[in-house]
Amino acid sequence: MPTHKPWGGRFQQGSSRLTELYTESLSYDRRLALYDLRGTGSHVKALHKARVLTSTEVSKMIAGLKALEKDLRAGKIKWDPFLEDVHMNLETLLVKKIGPLGKKVHTGRSRNDQVLTDLRLYVKDAVLNLGLALLQVQRQFILLAEKYTNVPMPGYTHLQRAQPVLLGHHLLAYVEMFERDKHRLAATYEAADVLVLGSAALAGTAYAIPREFVAKDLGFAAVSQNSMDAVADRDFVTDALYACAVMGIHLSRLGEELVLWSSSEFGFVSIGDAFTTGSSIMPQKKNSDVAELLRGKSGRLLGNLVALLTALKGLPLTYNRDLQEDKEPLFDSLDTVYLGLQVLGDLLPTLQFNTERMRRAALENFSAATDLADALVKKGLPFRDAHAAVGQAVAYCERQLKNFENLLPDEWPRALGKKAAGLLTPLECTKAIRLENILNIRNVTGGTAPGQVQKQIGRWKKKLGF
Ligand code: ARG
Repeated sequence: MPTHKPWGGRFQQGSSRLTELYTESLSYDRRLALYDLRGTGSHVKALHKARVLTSTEVSKMIAGLKALEKDLRAGKIKWDPFLEDVHMNLETLLVKKIGPLGKKVHTGRSRNDQVLTDLRLYVKDAVLNLGLALLQVQRQFILLAEKYTNVPMPGYTHLQRAQPVLLGHHLLAYVEMFERDKHRLAATYEAADVLVLGSAALAGTAYAIPREFVAKDLGFAAVSQNSMDAVADRDFVTDALYACAVMGIHLSRLGEELVLWSSSEFGFVSIGDAFTTGSSIMPQKKNSDVAELLRGKSGRLLGNLVALLTALKGLPLTYNRDLQEDKEPLFDSLDTVYLGLQVLGDLLPTLQFNTERMRRAALENFSAATDLADALVKKGLPFRDAHAAVGQAVAYCERQLKNFENLLPDEWPRALGKKAAGLLTPLECTKAIRLENILNIRNVTGGTAPGQVQKQIGRWKKKLGF
């Protein structure tokens, strides 16, 4: 007795319940349904061109597919979990809709090229949506950078205060990262933009299907050139997962900075209430959970990439059921990054920076030391000697519990040592460590000078069209 599966002919016995449960993909590939109907529509038209279907048959099938699409949009599809996946469900439903004619739909096609057609269409759309979400986030960063362009703050290396920078400069660093993310998305789009339908199971379809027509009909830019590679290839999925993993890492680094900056220890920023949470026991708490999850979810994004790469490694050509494992990580990563970008876009305008505190912190901990050394260099001292003299001055200040700003004029020679102090008057020292000077002097493309940061804001606004 053949089983009720579309492939059941040669089987005496149906699958065990655990086999069904273990091998199904319907629970997650249902989201491909609209793409599946689209792909099938093009395939049906191609079967007509290949003289497999008459024009009346095509019209009936297209009408059936349209009716299924309507049911789908209305949430009226009854999915059968015992039919494994979205593809066999929709095929079975088409037969129910239009009768035995529906049984011709899978002519010259395999689920191996069908599933990839759907997935490639899905990835193309998802990648475009992610690009738009990135653009929104970039826009929010640029608005913030504009608002806070000239606020000085400490720049860090090793999370130790290093040199003063402008807050606008720091914010624009993220715009750069997100721009590179867009390039990775564009590369993913290009990798996905290839028609594989016509490859059938692995060897190519035996029907005269005009693949160029199908590509055009479905909006694919290219046609795959090797059927075996086509059904075995998941590079466009790993590209998407890599792009998501890197975006996740950017979001994670940002999340970490928001967590740090909103702590009492830093006190640089406060995040809007709507993006923080309280504690069930400590009434005073305001926790930056959204920022923490921007940081935390990156682990899963990275894991998803590694999971699929690991599943692919060592797989013989061509299709193996292992390849079904591409979808859960893919959907999870795309969803996770998309939601992360959305929530971030809403969170950013609620940031309130404590600009006074940032400005004060900008010069603490001898952040002007490099500039003091540079002032000595300008008087002819080799940089390494200048470095040593200023290092000595830092040590002097630490012993005296002072900073550069409150050294008395007659302390400079003691602090810097005779040789260096002979090159700079105390007034010149004070000038060298003035915050405005330190910022203005970094007037190089990509530097933190106010004019440069303004220029970058202008460049971004022009480039991104607002
Ligand atoms: N559910 C499968 C997947 O998502 C469909 C392809 C199955 N093909 C096969 N030869 N078993 O990968």
